[in-house]
Amino acid sequence: MSDMNLTLKIWRQPNATSAGAMHTYQVSGISADMSFLEMLDILNEQLSAQGEEPVAFDHDCREGICGSCSLMINGQAHGPEVTTTCQLHMRSFKDGDTITIEPWRSEAFPVIKDLVVDRSAFDRIIQSGGYISANTGSAPEANSVPAPREKAMRAFNVATCIGCGACVAACPNGSASLFLAAKITHLGELPQGQPERYSRVVDMVGQHDAEGFGGCTNIGECASACPKEIPLDVISQLNKDLRTAIKAGR
Ligand code: SF4
Ligand code: FES
Repeated sequence: MSDMNLTLKIWRQPNATSAGAMHTYQVSGISADMSFLEMLDILNEQLSAQGEEPVAFDHDCREGICGSCSLMINGQAHGPEVTTTCQLHMRSFKDGDTITIEPWRSEAFPVIKDLVVDRSAFDRIIQSGGYISANTGSAPEANSVPAPREKAMRAFNVATCIGCGACVAACPNGSASLFLAAKITHLGELPQGQPERYSRVVDMVGQHDAEGFGGCTNIGECASACPKEIPLDVISQLNKDLRTAIKAGR
């Protein structure tokens, strides 16, 4: 496939307090084998060569692990494939395409600059209860705490949540319920997570609401946008644990 020429419409915002606007750029020489972020690197090289400010965007591992590459691409969180932005390849686009690139849009994720948002609300949710109180010291022998295979597999599967925030960006309510429920389910399925199971859910839901995330109305956009395919039914688990906790007066 020959190289592509693209039109990019990108949200530019100098800082958290200034107004932002869409800007249009042309970029050429884009190979189908490049990742989306490599395409943005080419744009930034062009902008720097022209003496213009490069576009700020978040990234770290570029391997689908860290969850920092958070872009709204043509109105879809992480773009047209079920993957992270860093793992999205330009073969998903064609020569002559116009691509719109925006930051996550959520009151709880304020824009810091251009395409970079502040997702520290997720860190505060984890700090409010997303941990277990295990004694420190040497790691216990893995099989000394038996866990049923089904529960262990479910815990492992939901532990793949990378905290990217695509679920929030995709949700019309700006809810972080899928993220929250993935963390609650991960710890709640395992024996080590039981001592704080019900205080955890109350504290984490309280922090979620205090951060300004919206409520879940079972629309399901979150699970469709999730690059780690966290299933929607974890939110049922979250609600069940919350009901149990409230009944028990936690
Ligand atoms: S649940 Fe999925 S979309 Fe939401 S933060 Fe975790 S990995 Fe990202
Ligand atoms: S840069 Fe780490 S998941 Fe994309």
